[in-house]
Amino acid sequence: MSELVSMRTDDDVAVITIDNPPVNAMKYEVRVGLLDLVSRAIGDAGVSAVVVACAGRTFVAGADITEFGKPPRQPTGIAVIEAIEASGKPVVAALHGTTLGGGLELALGCHFRVAAPGTRLGLPEIKLGIIPGAGGTQRLPRLVGMEKAMAMILSGEPILAPEAHVAGLVDEIIEGDLVAGAIAFARRVVAEKRPLVLVRNRDERLATPHHLAAFDAAAANHTKRARGQNAPVAAVAALRAAVTLPFAEGLKRERELFLELVAGDQSEAQRHIFFAEREAAKVPDIAGARAHEVQRAAVIGAGTMGGGIAMCFANAGIPVTVVDTGADVLARGLDVVRRNYRNTAARGGLTANEMEARIGRIDGTTDLAAVADADIVIEAVFEDMGVKQDVFARLDRIVKPGAVIASNTSYLDIDVLARNTTRPQAVVGMHFFSPANVMRLLEVVRGATTSPETLATAIAVGRKLGKVPAVVGVCHGFVGNRMLRLRSVEAERLLLEGALPQDVDGALTGFGFPMGPFAMGDLAGLDVGWRIRKAVGLTAPIADQLCERGRYGQKTSRGFYLYEPGSRTPKPDPEVEQLIADTAAQRGIARSALGKDEIVERLLFPMINEGARILREGIARRAGDIDVIWVYGYGFPVYRGGPMHYADSVGLAYIRDRLMAFAHTTGDDRHRPAPLLEELAAARKGFASLAG
Ligand code: CAA
Repeated sequence: MSELVSMRTDDDVAVITIDNPPVNAMKYEVRVGLLDLVSRAIGDAGVSAVVVACAGRTFVAGADITEFGKPPRQPTGIAVIEAIEASGKPVVAALHGTTLGGGLELALGCHFRVAAPGTRLGLPEIKLGIIPGAGGTQRLPRLVGMEKAMAMILSGEPILAPEAHVAGLVDEIIEGDLVAGAIAFARRVVAEKRPLVLVRNRDERLATPHHLAAFDAAAANHTKRARGQNAPVAAVAALRAAVTLPFAEGLKRERELFLELVAGDQSEAQRHIFFAEREAAKVPDIAGARAHEVQRAAVIGAGTMGGGIAMCFANAGIPVTVVDTGADVLARGLDVVRRNYRNTAARGGLTANEMEARIGRIDGTTDLAAVADADIVIEAVFEDMGVKQDVFARLDRIVKPGAVIASNTSYLDIDVLARNTTRPQAVVGMHFFSPANVMRLLEVVRGATTSPETLATAIAVGRKLGKVPAVVGVCHGFVGNRMLRLRSVEAERLLLEGALPQDVDGALTGFGFPMGPFAMGDLAGLDVGWRIRKAVGLTAPIADQLCERGRYGQKTSRGFYLYEPGSRTPKPDPEVEQLIADTAAQRGIARSALGKDEIVERLLFPMINEGARILREGIARRAGDIDVIWVYGYGFPVYRGGPMHYADSVGLAYIRDRLMAFAHTTGDDRHRPAPLLEELAAARKGFASLAG
């Protein structure tokens, strides 16, 4: 018998406990043990009811993701659930923590579900590029209705126990001792001789076939942003089967769709990101370093970034002071923050109380001395080395000993800033992405002098703020922006060679990015990059000319595209097309049309090449870190697994050959294959082979 599952009896109630830390994933040994003990309990004449519970921090948080992609081993979760359903004795699931995926499916196979108040219940499979594979798409709509089931399955977002209780997913909320409460509940069920209705037989909540038009309309609404992803389409097909087919056939259909997805590239890519995300915050040589406790934060600079970062702290329950020497800028910045919160509350994303609480956690001042009691200070002032050096020197005189001093710079040298203080060990980069309160990526920049404790604190704070921290080294632009720079150069080059902004953007959105580089530039403001380029002596032939004409993007209604009053929809602009044609002609470039695939390769392969250099230089520790950065910070489609995983799936030899061809036509040295890429391609290996 498996040691991961045990059984005890409390008088006439058998309590089966799963204990497979950290998250009680339903791996093979757990399924074997569970099936065995459930069968024994059912066969035991002295047992009148069964409770299934979990030890540790959570009920089963899902199937074991590491088993996906390997041949399935019997018994499956389905077999365990069927054994429970066949029991003539009530089986009660006692839920706590995160009851997710296969864990919720197990609970749906039980006759009753009770839960601790803070339990989160959900079917997050869609986030792994799959659908529930053990009856979730067939049972959940039978219990909570199609509308709610569809929302849960297509978003992958969990709901809290009280909401689950109202929806009928949880029969009772248990305050206090969960298992004792579950045993008492089970005894009541026996005493009251409550009928054991299986969820599979509760068809009454399913819409009947004449509601299919409504079903299809709702499904279309949920999948309209699916952009090339297979899982949402399959989830809808499985849910539709719940309505149109008898239960057993619906279950079969779900299983087929699940098996197809789990064996596919998209799910493989999404599993890669799941594990890479957890790896990216791990730094082997600081293992054991203790993060400082952060109870108060300060942000220097009340601009867009500063305000967004302050919101992150307020959202996480940490009081934060925003300092800006300009009273006007400060007032305007805090106003924007309040407006953001009000908008969220108006959309129903926050209760009025929670909105007030968050706003209440942010205070503003023009007096830098106010940062004295902060445990972490994040500088988010104008992106200029001189300005930042001055801020760091002043912070050094005020900030309390032991506090972390972080810079939100997106490309400047952290080591130079550290040298402007008497405590270079306390300095680290924390590069947030705009809008900071929304984007999940946090590049944590480790300087030459950053201490293990400082680094550990930055990572821990990042996680507390709900970010995905990825640790990177110091270089111009770090990982993300250094690679992005290559894409920007290439995008302009494509214009001169024959593509139009809408061709380039269309190719990338077709690939799965939410936006192409030109629409993105228009949104962010073309003047931002223009100013930075001028400061460092770089040019972008088309973007520079647009800025010279006052076309800064959406804010001036003109940029690479034209925007009609009040609209954010980019429209192709003949003036821009003329400008591109004229510029190409002046440079003696004969323009000719470029295909979508060619555009994608031209944009992504040089970036991947730069990623190889970044890896060799040790700026990123693992290829997966680069993938995480691109998925969470730059909208790289998660179902393609990030640029380096994508490169492996395309094959590095092909990429090397294409880069050599690009280098030949563009004469750009950066297109020459990086040594690491050459070596891996020659050895027929991928970036994944470097892991560990
Ligand atoms: N399988 C295998 N390992 C898992 C796992 C799973 N389902 N869930 C988490 N882990 C591992 C993590 O990789 C991590 O390992 P390391 O410590 O080695 O890095 C460890 O468990 C702890 O996880 P987190 O760091 O994420 O811990 P957390 O407390 O922040 O979050 C959690 C816990 C909410 C459960 C989160 O881990 C999570 O969302 N897990 C995935 C849940 C999920 O997607 N379940 C559905 C699986 S698919 C399924 O069930 C299909 C089916 O129908 C058959």
